[in-house]
Amino acid sequence: QKTLKDAYNDFFPIGVAVAPRNLTGPDAELIKEQFNSLTPENAMKMGPIHPEPNRYAWQDPDAIVAFAQKNGMKVRGHTLCWHNQTPKWFFTDSTNKQVSREVLLARLKQHINDVVGRYKGRIYAWDVVNEAVPDTGTSIYRRSKFYEIIGEDYIEKAFEYAHAADPAAKLFYNDYNTESSSKRDKIYQLLKKLKDKNVPVDGVGLQGHWSISEPAKQELEKSIEQFSSLGLMIQITELDVSVHQKEHERREKRATDSGELTAEMLEKQAAQYKMLFEVFRKYKSVITGVTFWNVSDKSSWLDNFPVPGRKDYPLLFDQNYKPKKAFDGVVNF
Ligand code: G3I
Repeated sequence: QKTLKDAYNDFFPIGVAVAPRNLTGPDAELIKEQFNSLTPENAMKMGPIHPEPNRYAWQDPDAIVAFAQKNGMKVRGHTLCWHNQTPKWFFTDSTNKQVSREVLLARLKQHINDVVGRYKGRIYAWDVVNEAVPDTGTSIYRRSKFYEIIGEDYIEKAFEYAHAADPAAKLFYNDYNTESSSKRDKIYQLLKKLKDKNVPVDGVGLQGHWSISEPAKQELEKSIEQFSSLGLMIQITELDVSVHQKEHERREKRATDSGELTAEMLEKQAAQYKMLFEVFRKYKSVITGVTFWNVSDKSSWLDNFPVPGRKDYPLLFDQNYKPKKAFDGVVNF
C-alpha cells in the first residue's frame, strides 16, 4: 500500500503537527510510516517554550526534534511571534506596567535568538510571524500587543532576528483565511512591503484550516499565484478539512448539522482533499511543503471547535488509524 510520503516524494515533504504524546504507541507508528516532516503543535510557541523570563522549557521541543532526527524527518518550527499563547510577562515589567518599545524589542530579539539558535541546522523552516493580519477592517495590521507597543516594524524585526540566528533557515509568514479576497489582498500588501524593504522572508504559509465547502479551487489558485508572484515559496502549514461547514457556521454562530458523521460528509471530504492535492501538484514549483494539523481523527484541535461538544473528522486517517476514502484520492493520481 502506498504511503503519503512516497506518493509525494517528487513533490514536497508531507508533515504532521505533533505533541510529545504522539511520539509513542500507534500514533508514532503511523507518523513514521506516512510522514517525513514534523511541526510541534504547541511546544515551540512563546508561552510553552518560554514560560518565565530567563526560563525555557526545552524538554518537549527537544523531544520532538530528536524524534524527527532519529527517523530522518525534517522539522518546521512554529511559531516565534504570535499574539496567542504568549505569556503575560513578555509585555509587562516587575510592577506589572507595560514595557516600552525598546524593552519589548530586546525581549523579542533574545527569545528568537535563543530558540532559533538552539535548533540551528536542525529546523529547516520557521513560522516567524503568525496571524499578524486582521480578518476585518482595512488595516493590514492586527492590533496585537506587539503592534501596539513596538509599531508595525515588529514584523520585519522578527524576521531579521531569526535570519541572524540561523541564516540558512527558510523564514515564513503564516496565516489563515488566505483565500478570502479581502484578507488575501491585505496579506499580499504586507508581504510586498516586506519584500520591498529586503526583509529576509522566504515564504508564506497558508494554514489550510479548510472544510468540505471551502476554499473554492479558483480562490486557492488565486492566492498561490498572487503570493508566489512576489518570489515567495508557499507551504500549506496546518492542513485539515472539517466535515462541518465551518465558515458558514462562524458567520451564523450556530451548527449547521447535527454533529453526526455521515457517508455524504466523507464523500465530500474526499472530493475536497482530491481537489486540494491536484492544485498542490499543479503548483509544485512553488509549493515546498504540506503539513497536516494532527495525526488522525482520534484527536484534532477541531474537536469542540467552533461548536462545543461536537467532534470533527478532518484528517486522512480515522479514529482507528485506518486510511479514509480521502486518503485514496490523495495518494492515487
Ligand atoms: O497544556 C495545557 C494543559 O496543561 C492544561 O491543563 C489545559 C487546560 O486547558 O490546557 C493545555 O493547553 C492547551 C494547549 O492547546 C495544549 O493542549 C490550551 O488550553 C489550548 O488553548 C491549546 O490549543 C492550541 C491552540 O493552537 C491555541 O491557540 C491547539 O492545541 C493548537 O492546535 C492550535 O494551533 C493553532 C496554530 O498554532 C496557529 N493556527 C491556528 C491553529 C488552530 O487554532
